[in-house]
Amino acid sequence: MESSDLLKIIQGIPKAELHLHIEGSFEPELMFEIAKRNNIALEYDSIESIKKAYKFNNLQEFLDIYYTGAQVLIHEQDFFDLTWAYLTKVHSQNVVHVEIFFDPQTHTDRGVGFDVVINGITRALEKANQELNISYKLIMSYLRHLSEEEAFKTLESSLPYKHLIDGVGLDSSEKGNPPSKFVNVFKASANQGYKLVAHAGEEGPADYIWEALDLLKVVRVDHGNRCLDDDTLVQRLIEENIPLTLCPLSNVELKVIQKMEDHPVVKMLDRGILATIHSDDPAYFGGYMNENYYETAKALNLNRDQLMQLAINAFEASWLTREAKENHISEVKNYFNTLNIE
Ligand code: HPA
Ligand code: ZN
Repeated sequence: MESSDLLKIIQGIPKAELHLHIEGSFEPELMFEIAKRNNIALEYDSIESIKKAYKFNNLQEFLDIYYTGAQVLIHEQDFFDLTWAYLTKVHSQNVVHVEIFFDPQTHTDRGVGFDVVINGITRALEKANQELNISYKLIMSYLRHLSEEEAFKTLESSLPYKHLIDGVGLDSSEKGNPPSKFVNVFKASANQGYKLVAHAGEEGPADYIWEALDLLKVVRVDHGNRCLDDDTLVQRLIEENIPLTLCPLSNVELKVIQKMEDHPVVKMLDRGILATIHSDDPAYFGGYMNENYYETAKALNLNRDQLMQLAINAFEASWLTREAKENHISEVKNYFNTLNIE
C-alpha cells in the first residue's frame, strides 16, 4: 500500500483514545505562550531547543522533562487551553471518544488547587462534547514514585469532584514502585466508585501486571508489554478479556523496544489479547493517534483486518455503555466495508 493511501485510511477510522496523559500533550509552542503570560522563565530559549531536548534513554529521563514542562501550568485557563488544544487536535484526526489521565499531584504539590486543575480540564472536555461531539471519561492518576499516603491525600481532595472523575490510574516511575505499594488506596478508590487502571509492564516485569490484576483489581492495564514473558499471564488476560492500552511511539522513544518493527502488538492480537493503540504523551513522542497507527501499520505491515480489529478493540475496551460501544463498532465496520483494500 502507498504511504499516502495508508494515511488516508487511518485518518478516516473513527478512533478512541484510552491512554493519554493530558500533561503529555503540552506542545512546546503552547508551553512558551503560557510560560510568557505567567512570567515563568523556561530553561530553553526556543521551541527548537525544547524539541532537541526530547531525546530519552528511558522512562525516567522523559519524566524529568515532562514534570518540568508542567510547572508553567498555574491557572484554570492554562489547564483549559492545554486540554482544548489536545481535543481540537484529535478531533482533526477523527478521534470520537477519549479517556484521559491527569496527574493532580504534579500540580497540587506546587500549590495549585485541585479545583483549578479539574475545572480547567473539565471545561474543555465539556466544550468538546458540545461542539465537537467527542465523548469523554476522566481518570485521575496517582504518582507511584510518591507514597501511598500522598495518594490517599489526593483521593481525599478529589471527593468534592467525584462526579467529574470516572476512574483512577497509576503512573510515573515504574521500576521499584510496584502496584503492591498502592493496594489500600486502590481499595479505597474502588469504594468511592472509581474504576481502576494502572500502568504495568512498561519497564517493570510481568510480575507487576499480576499485582495490578490480583492486588489492585484493575479492569484495564496501561502498556502491559511485558505480559508476553509469561504464558500463564497471557492466558489470564485473554480469559478475563483485560484490555492492554499500548503506546507504540512511546515505546520506541523510551527504549522499551529498540525499533517499531519489534513492537509486540501483532503477537498480542494473534494470541487474542484485547490490545489497543494510543499516544501516551504525544507532544513528547512524535505523534498523536494517527501517527501511532501509521508508524505501527507501516513497520508491522498491518493488514485491513488488523487495523479494523485495533479500532474495534479500543471501543470495546472503553468505558462507554454497551449501546454506545456497539454504535461506534458498527461505524468502524461500515467504514472498512467502504474501503477497497486487503
Ligand atoms: N509511563 C509512566 N508514567 C507516565 C507516562 C508513561 O509512559 N507518561 C506520563 N506519565
Ligand atoms: Zn502512560
